[in-house]
Amino acid sequence: MNVLVTDPIADAGLDRLREAGYTVETDYDIEGGTELIEAIEGVNALIVRSGTEVSRDVFEAAEDLVIVGRAGIGVDNIDIDAATDHGVIVANAPEGNVRAAAEHTVAMTFAVARSIPQAHGRLKDGEWAKGEFLGAEVNNKTLTIVGLGRVGQEVAKRLDSLGMDLVVYDPYISQERAERMGAELIEDLHDALAAGDFATIHTPLLPETEGMIGEAELAQLEGGYLINCARGGIVDEDALATAVDDGVLAGAALDSFATEPLPTDSPLLDVEDVVVTPHLGASTEAAQENVATDTADAVIAAFNDEPVINALNAPSVDESAFPRIEPYIDLAETAGKVAAQLLEGRISRIEVTYEGDIAEEEIDLVTASALKGVFEPLEWQVNAVNAPQLAEDRGIDVVESKSRQSEDFQSVVRVTVHNGDEELSVEGTLFAGDDPRIVRIDGFRVDAVPYGHMLVARNADKPGVIGLIGTVLGDHDVNIAGMFNAREVHGGEAITVYNLDQEVPDAAVEELLADDRIITVTEITLDAANGREE
Ligand code: NAD
Ligand code: MLT
Repeated sequence: MNVLVTDPIADAGLDRLREAGYTVETDYDIEGGTELIEAIEGVNALIVRSGTEVSRDVFEAAEDLVIVGRAGIGVDNIDIDAATDHGVIVANAPEGNVRAAAEHTVAMTFAVARSIPQAHGRLKDGEWAKGEFLGAEVNNKTLTIVGLGRVGQEVAKRLDSLGMDLVVYDPYISQERAERMGAELIEDLHDALAAGDFATIHTPLLPETEGMIGEAELAQLEGGYLINCARGGIVDEDALATAVDDGVLAGAALDSFATEPLPTDSPLLDVEDVVVTPHLGASTEAAQENVATDTADAVIAAFNDEPVINALNAPSVDESAFPRIEPYIDLAETAGKVAAQLLEGRISRIEVTYEGDIAEEEIDLVTASALKGVFEPLEWQVNAVNAPQLAEDRGIDVVESKSRQSEDFQSVVRVTVHNGDEELSVEGTLFAGDDPRIVRIDGFRVDAVPYGHMLVARNADKPGVIGLIGTVLGDHDVNIAGMFNAREVHGGEAITVYNLDQEVPDAAVEELLADDRIITVTEITLDAANGREE
């Protein structure tokens, strides 16, 4: 497996991937665009920070890509919708640099309030400008926090302990969360800014937050300081430069910019009371090591078909629950595949039903696998990441239901496909904990081992039919490895499921269908699984 890393990450992450046996290449000159499109061929995992633009074109070109790992929090440089459409996992490392970002925010707050960079510059230039700097204390001042997520909360704790009163603007959190942090939640952004002496931004860059802090908002913070260590683009930089220059604000401190590196002609660089750092929020040794190893772990998990803990576009599973649901992932996919191949016509609805113990688990990933199973025989480019999206895009209703009761088995997964007129269900269970069986097809109780080549025949329950099928298969050199027959009532319709050692030639199918007693014959090909040889 090949891993390409296009933004610098700590050696600890690169070492972890190499130790796991993967080929790791680094190319920190690639920023996206055609260079990345060319480099992505044959790459199975791409690791980036904020410097690489991973656009839809990249996903279109990236035929072998399984995962994009973001060694950090913000994913505004990755087209996640395009990743999902192409079945590529996007995972970030949202915990490892939170403290570093919060500490940098606090440092920037003091830097701007006490003019530390300006005074430092003057002294380095040989000037003792003691009389020219009169700073502001944070003690007893009000801090407005815009976005009380991971970083916002850490900033809140630190500045609360330094004597600040906290107000918060965040439309997605509860009153309780704000109160727990000792903060007052204010529902209107303008009111929140008007209440603050300092305002610090900690939202993601989203269409909704882009340009959220413009001239009118800066005017609400009149006389105060603005700190943005989140993302450029949230604050209107021209408006901010003007507001500080005109004295509407006392100062501003910025670590992130709409365009990075910050262009040398940015008006922000000309304003004395604007303090800037080149996106250093996460640049501590500890943070870089954390995010690099977390990202390497995400890549390793994805390569091993294990749940990727911080996946942003794939169904997530708690690590401790994964061993319990893992065998059902394959079982649901198999049930989906069998159901899709037995029902003709356009599938309009899929029901995935869980009964018994499995109903108590987190089953998003199992359902996604059932959908993958249904869509694979239709030759859609599908995996568990994009299967739910494909269903939605193609107008297929997906219904999931759970019941703790199960009549015959400890746990059952049932996949029912509908084509508008008819429906067909395939039910699977695990024998002895992990031995998969198909136990019901279209209501017939069967006991089929789902692997390799299978033949499902529907026939009249008449003497000689099973013999006929055996003879025809034998004549075409197809060996029967196992067989199960079930019937509705004596002399009614029956279903016969065969496990076969070889593919069934078309001529054999035609020969079988030529007999009046045979209603349908469907060959189903599954992976050789569960250690069984085809
Ligand atoms: P998070 O997802 O944990 O928190 C974001 C918060 O913003 C959430 O509470 C959410 O409810 C809130 N929010 C969303 N839309 C909002 C809106 N319209 N108005 C107000 N609040 C809104 O994110 P995080 O991990 O705390 O990261 C915060 C920001 O910091 C991100 O932009 C991230 O990229 C950035 N970051 C920067 C650095 C750096 O090096 N400078 C390092 C780490 C994180
Ligand atoms: C982040 O979102 O994690 C930060 O921007 C840190 C970074 O990768 O530089």
